[in-house]
Amino acid sequence: MQFDMSKLDAAERYKLLVNTITPRPIAWVVTQDAAGNRNAAPYSFFNAMGSDPALVAIFMGPDDVRSPSGQKDSLRAIRETGEFTVALVSEDDAPKMVRSATDAPAGVDELALLDIPTRPASMVTPPLIASAPVTYECRLWQFIETTANAGIVLGEVVAMDIDDRLLGEENGRLRIDAPAMKLVGRAHGAGWYWRGSDQLRIDRQNWPLDQT
Ligand SMILES: Cc1cc2nc3c(=O)[nH]c(=O)nc-3n(C[C@H](O)[C@H](O)[C@H](O)COP(=O)(O)O)c2cc1C
Repeated sequence: MQFDMSKLDAAERYKLLVNTITPRPIAWVVTQDAAGNRNAAPYSFFNAMGSDPALVAIFMGPDDVRSPSGQKDSLRAIRETGEFTVALVSEDDAPKMVRSATDAPAGVDELALLDIPTRPASMVTPPLIASAPVTYECRLWQFIETTANAGIVLGEVVAMDIDDRLLGEENGRLRIDAPAMKLVGRAHGAGWYWRGSDQLRIDRQNWPLDQT
């Protein structure tokens, strides 16, 4: 069955996309607005977008219901200050990550509300989520407005912290024990998440391909 996207409304297009592009990594975004208010919320329209510069992309939808500015708190703060941090989400952190997506009134500090421990970042003002296996310190590189009060945040990763227990060395080369991060990804529907515990190895081949 083919879906002509031009004949669907935004909610229907959203449903088709998020139930098919899975799993999606989750950025737990922390901001601190110009007035000093902190905020944390998850975003799964998220990925790395190159390494020169090191960019991450996050889509932030509008918030016409709660926010006087029409923007989600995260987006408003990023546009005010040009800074944010991202925590990758482990299974242990997942319940609080989900709770931080609650439709609390604009301005609520989810870090305080949910007792999420933080530590200072070194190059930006918003703090880092202390329990995360990996965090990124980001500066706004470009904002692409897609509709009023919504769009794609491109952030340059200016610093990255990886928990020491994940780092090793093999033949003089840095190794990151990615499975040990125990990250969750967003799956189909509203409440489903992926675990990365079942991996498949397929080695890439040089040209010419063998016939096996
Ligand atoms: C796992 C998960 C992923 C989410 N991904 C997105 C997303 O990519 N874009 C978006 O606009 N909202 C997303 N949301 C919803 C926001 O987290 C939610 O609207 C939140 O209240 C926004 O908070 P803020 O206004 O404090 O920034 C997601 C929610 C969950 C639970």
